[in-house]
Amino acid sequence: MTDDVLIERPQDYPGVQVIRFNRPAKKNAITRAMYAKMANALTVAGTDDAVRVTVFLGTEGCFSAGNDMADFMAFAVGGTMGQEVLDFLRALAGAAKPVVSGVDGLAIGIGTTIHLHCDLTIASARSVFKTPFVDLALVPEAASSLIVPRIAGHQRAFALLAAGQPFTAEEAQEAGLIWRIAGADAIEEEVLALAANLARKPPEALRIARRLIRGDRSDVLARIEEEAEHFAAQLKSAEARAAFEAFMRR
Ligand code: COA
Repeated sequence: MTDDVLIERPQDYPGVQVIRFNRPAKKNAITRAMYAKMANALTVAGTDDAVRVTVFLGTEGCFSAGNDMADFMAFAVGGTMGQEVLDFLRALAGAAKPVVSGVDGLAIGIGTTIHLHCDLTIASARSVFKTPFVDLALVPEAASSLIVPRIAGHQRAFALLAAGQPFTAEEAQEAGLIWRIAGADAIEEEVLALAANLARKPPEALRIARRLIRGDRSDVLARIEEEAEHFAAQLKSAEARAAFEAFMRR
């Protein structure tokens, strides 16, 4: 199993499972093996009473640069998209227990859209959220095309998801994409303390409250599938291949 993402259960924060991106040399770009490990951790969390909250964290100055570009290229050449990404998105969108995230620095592609499925996200002021899907000849994923217009309105959704405009932490907070901004040095501690606090709450009451707040998820799950069909088709396109090659060559 890959160590590019670590699954931890920190002793000082009982009830908390941490999914930590650990590939800083590649800006925490996410490979198929990493998606598979994360999907498994989310599935385990769903049935393990010892886990009450899952936390996503990156490394200093980088949450994640999104999907691994070499994997995109392999999909483009091979013609099929791996199941791992979809397995992860389904597990994330359907997670039965709270999910919290902490961002410091780069949050690109799925590094941004992951937070749409989190209940609370804290980011450092230097964080940048960006989804260059269309620039790569791809389309929005993770039901972002449904969730972002809902929470932020059409214009901000279009700026983020279609125009590929970067959002500062402040803009992301104004748009409702994240909850709070904190100092870069404090992110990890604040997020873990927040998660541990949730983990101490009566689990059944928290579960019901969360379900009521999130509402019916069937449209979100359906949009993940709909986007994935377009995504897979675009991955094979000449325009996407040209974009991946340009990244590899740079
Ligand atoms: N997939 C694979 N490798 C990636 C990557 C990705 N998504 N993002 C960064 N890397 C790798 C680079 O190839 C480089 O590897 P190398 O040192 O072996 O050449 C390393 O991480 C450092 O990246 P670099 O581009 O040199 O750092 P930077 O600070 O100049 O720029 C980014 C960082 C994230 C802005 C830039 O790498 C980038 O645009 N990455 C692609 C992001 C993206 O489009 N993701 C897909 C979203 S759908």
